[in-house]
Order: sequence, then C-alpha cells, then structure tokens
Amino acid sequence: MSPEKIAIFDTTLRDGEQSPGCSMFLDEKIDMARQLERLGVDVIEAGFPIASEGDYRAVRAISQEITGATIAALCRTVPEDIYRAADALKGAARSRIHTFVATSDIHLQYKLQKTRAEVLEMTKNSVSIASENADEVEFSAEDATRSDVDFLCEVFSTAADAGATVLNVPDTVGYTMPHEYSNLIRTIKDRVVGDRDITISVHCHNDLGLAVANSLAAVEAGARQVEGTINGIGERAGNASLEEFVMACSVRSDKMPFANNIDTTQLYPASQMLASIISFGVQPNKAIVGRNAFAHEAGIHQHGVLSNPLCYEIMTPESVGVPKNDIVLGKHSGRHALLSRYEQLGFEFDAGEIKEIYTRFVELADKKKNIYDQDLLAIIHDRATAVFAA
Ligand code: KIV
Ligand code: ZN
Repeated sequence: MSPEKIAIFDTTLRDGEQSPGCSMFLDEKIDMARQLERLGVDVIEAGFPIASEGDYRAVRAISQEITGATIAALCRTVPEDIYRAADALKGAARSRIHTFVATSDIHLQYKLQKTRAEVLEMTKNSVSIASENADEVEFSAEDATRSDVDFLCEVFSTAADAGATVLNVPDTVGYTMPHEYSNLIRTIKDRVVGDRDITISVHCHNDLGLAVANSLAAVEAGARQVEGTINGIGERAGNASLEEFVMACSVRSDKMPFANNIDTTQLYPASQMLASIISFGVQPNKAIVGRNAFAHEAGIHQHGVLSNPLCYEIMTPESVGVPKNDIVLGKHSGRHALLSRYEQLGFEFDAGEIKEIYTRFVELADKKKNIYDQDLLAIIHDRATAVFAA
C-alpha cells in the first residue's frame, strides 16, 4: 500500500510577507512563486487581495504564471473580500479561496464584536459564496487552539456543510502543545469529518518554538495538509518552517511514513532566494538551511565526520540542495567560477548583468579574503549590510 500523502501549503507570500522586514515587490513574488513551483509545493497562498492593490496584483499575476500548484487567496468571511479574491484568482489553473473567521471568545468579544450565532452565519454565507467562485474552498477558524471545542466543531461542521473541503486549524498565537494539538485534531476528525472527503489542515505559529513539533504531532493524529513558510518567516516568531517539517518527515520516515511532492534539493535554493529578497538573512544555526547546519568545527566532530559523515550528519547537504563547496571564491576567481556558484544558488543573468556583477565581485574580493554565499546575495541586491566579515 502506498503511503498517504501530506499536502504542503506554502504561505511565504501571504503570512510570511505580511510580517516586519518581509515585504516583497511584484517581480520578487513571481520569482519566489516559480521557485515554490520547482520545489513542488501543492498550494501557493499568493496574498490577501482585499488588503491592498499590491496583493491583488500579486495573486492575479501568480495565478496567470503558475500551473504546477493550486493558487490560494485569503479573505475574511465577508462577501466583498470573497469576490475580490475570486477575481484575482480568475487565471489560475486551479484556484482556492481561503476564508477565515476567528472562533475564540477573546477574538469574538474584543476584535470582531460578534456573537457566536453571527460567526456561524458568516461562515455559512461566505463558504457558500466562495464555493461558487473557485475550484475549492479552505476554511480557517482563527485562534482555533484557544476556542471552545464544542463551538469550534459547530463552526467547522457549518463550513463543511456549506462546501469547504479543507478545514484548517490554526494555532494563531503559537500557544498549543504537541499532545494537546493532536488531541484537538483527533476530536475534529471524529466529530466533524467522519467519513466525508475533507482534509484537515494545520497552520502553526512559532511563539513557543513548537510550530514544527505541533505540525508533526497533528499529522500523526490525522491532519493531511501542513501550512508553513520558507525559512519559517511570519508574524512575530514566524510560522512553521517548511524545510524543517519536510526534512523531519524525510529523515524520520521510519516514524513519519507519509509521502509528499517536495523535491528536497530545492529547499536551499528557495531559502537563499527568499533571503536575497527580504531584509534579513537566515540565522547561521537555523536547522536545514543555516550556514552552520552542515559545518563542523570541533576537532572531535571533524575527525568523526571525516571517518564517516553519518557520525554527526543525519542528512547530507546535497539532499537539501546545499551546493558542494569545493571552490573557494576570492580575488583570483574567474567569471566562470562565480557564475557557476550563482547557478547553484538558483540565479541566472544576462550578459549586461554578468558584467556588472563581476565588477562588484572583484571590488569586494579586493577588500576581503573569502567571499561567501551571503556576499554573493548582497552583491546582486546591493545590500552592503549583508556582507559578512572575513
Ligand atoms: O494564523 C492564522 O490564524 C492565520 C489564518 C488567517 C489562517 O494566518
Ligand atoms: Zn498565520
């Protein structure tokens, strides 16, 4: 029997982009969407069209450009939002309207100023409109993990009856614990899904550093879609990091016997591309894609790794797309070595760009001994602050 599939839903361009220091221009979003397509994500959430003209344009452009993934657009449970999202998604090969409303009492009382009955009505109405205006509908209960379970199940049942086929259970404030979250997923599976063809989705924030652990626990309990972002960017402490979730499933397939469509060798290029676009890089000790993730400095570790890499490496750098780094770039490096490194990082340039980039590279190489990947990214994006000390 083939393993069950986990759908990967990327929200780098929506939940990630809306956090401080992460805003992107339209052409950067399109580049990123193309890389996500190469990576093999199932769904790209391209924006929140009612929020701004820029988001509307991004969803529209990505819908026209990408054919290898479903394109999702976020909207509140408000008809105006849904029509705007549907309009932006028109060109998509497969479109998904993702509509959400908060379900916790604290959000109902202080943010929405709505009763539970009103939230149920908004859910029913908006999911019905959405299902007539897109190929599929995802419904999210914002702050699900701090919501009354009986009410949460009632809202999810209402959404499912109105046509939602994906029910998302966000841990909006990164508050839940793995065993608590898996219990909640089991409850929703038993009380709402039953034998209906509905996917339970999880969307975890990282305020307590548990976003990936919670996502893994949820999958064990029956969730079949996981939402996350490249490099874990997102509100406050970020969203579940896609590369961490995917590699946890890959390295520990003995405990996580599920399939997905991700080409793991595209993880590092996706991480590097994002870092080159937004205003901050990847922390050096970041799991999977950080500069030190595969570096060994302690003598005893170096000895072990040289004897057999498995002593200290549970996965190879190549498996996540970290290019082999036999060539050290410095002032004696030629154009060919420079361009092949850029190519490994996922970048290609035209003749004019190559001339300019090589000139900048030579200027920098005159000032510092070794040129690292972060320097190369800084060169192309003219970010002097990202240049690391030699
Ligand atoms: O964190 C959250 O609750 C969200 C929803 C809109 C899905 O991002
Ligand atoms: Zn979120």
